[in-house]
Amino acid sequence: MGTDFAGIEMCVFDAYGTLFDFNSAVARHRTAVGPSAEALSEMWRTKQIQYTWLRNGMGTYAKFWQVTGEALDHCLATHRITDIAVREKLMGAYLALAPFPEAPGMLACLKRGGMRMAILSNGNPEMLGPMVAASGQAGAFEVVLSVDEVGVFKPDPRVYRLVDSDRWELVEAGLSDAQSEGFLELNAENRGGSRLVTEQGAGTVAVPLLPAGDVLGKLEKIDLVKIDVEGHEDAVFRSARDIFGARQPRAILFEEQKAQAGPNGPIGSLLGGIGYKVYGIGKTLTTTTLQPATDENAAHFNDFLAVSTGRTLPAKAKARYGL
Ligand code: LAC
Repeated sequence: MGTDFAGIEMCVFDAYGTLFDFNSAVARHRTAVGPSAEALSEMWRTKQIQYTWLRNGMGTYAKFWQVTGEALDHCLATHRITDIAVREKLMGAYLALAPFPEAPGMLACLKRGGMRMAILSNGNPEMLGPMVAASGQAGAFEVVLSVDEVGVFKPDPRVYRLVDSDRWELVEAGLSDAQSEGFLELNAENRGGSRLVTEQGAGTVAVPLLPAGDVLGKLEKIDLVKIDVEGHEDAVFRSARDIFGARQPRAILFEEQKAQAGPNGPIGSLLGGIGYKVYGIGKTLTTTTLQPATDENAAHFNDFLAVSTGRTLPAKAKARYGL
């Protein structure tokens, strides 16, 4: 590489049009779209971005998935394409856009050089997640940040504050219930699926472990906690129990605990005992719903949200999710 990276801490990439080729959606279905394929693809992108600016101007944020669909509807109407199957195909392809041919090699090169990398995109997590995973590039990124977190599109300054380095501190340790050493079993296809194991093996790396309660206890204020530790939740919740009880983060998100998250399951009862109500999160591409977790329905959910009954929740959240 001929470029000088001295002093650059992290490379943060835009997703659509920078790493991922939005034209690859129409290209994949060129025959179905017909002779106007190229014009439609270009117009789709232009309208999509214009709609985000319009929404920023009007203060009416909606997820990028919805905006992308609305832009496509305009383009299909302009090109007099009425077949609903074409719309479905194109939106489906948008969830698996191809990376630009040079992107994987460039990311691998930066990674080898030790560069920290992230994505900061207009896309909402429900559309970025599948695309990044399908591309096989997920392991390159420390974090995939979405404007959805701030509810406004680029170029609003609030978006770029998502990457301010004083907003986070990376603690390079595994969270557990005691200070010790463990092994991280790396999942080559999906780094996010890597998990702590007790035995050293071919695909494991040794990692220091810290009690989750100690790490969280150092924070001044905790509003939101996301726990994604691939089966190690029990230890993390046990260790963090007293801190959660005392500090009452407004919301704690966790995954895949199934029946354990029900009121009588080990995690559900721990949370119930320190003032939390647990909800199962129902997700589609455009909406999320919350349903109180019961011992019967908990196994059907993949994601859970525990909400503090002792904290005042934003009125907007209460109205939106019926809390
Ligand atoms: C993004 C769009 C703007 O990924 O391309 O943020």
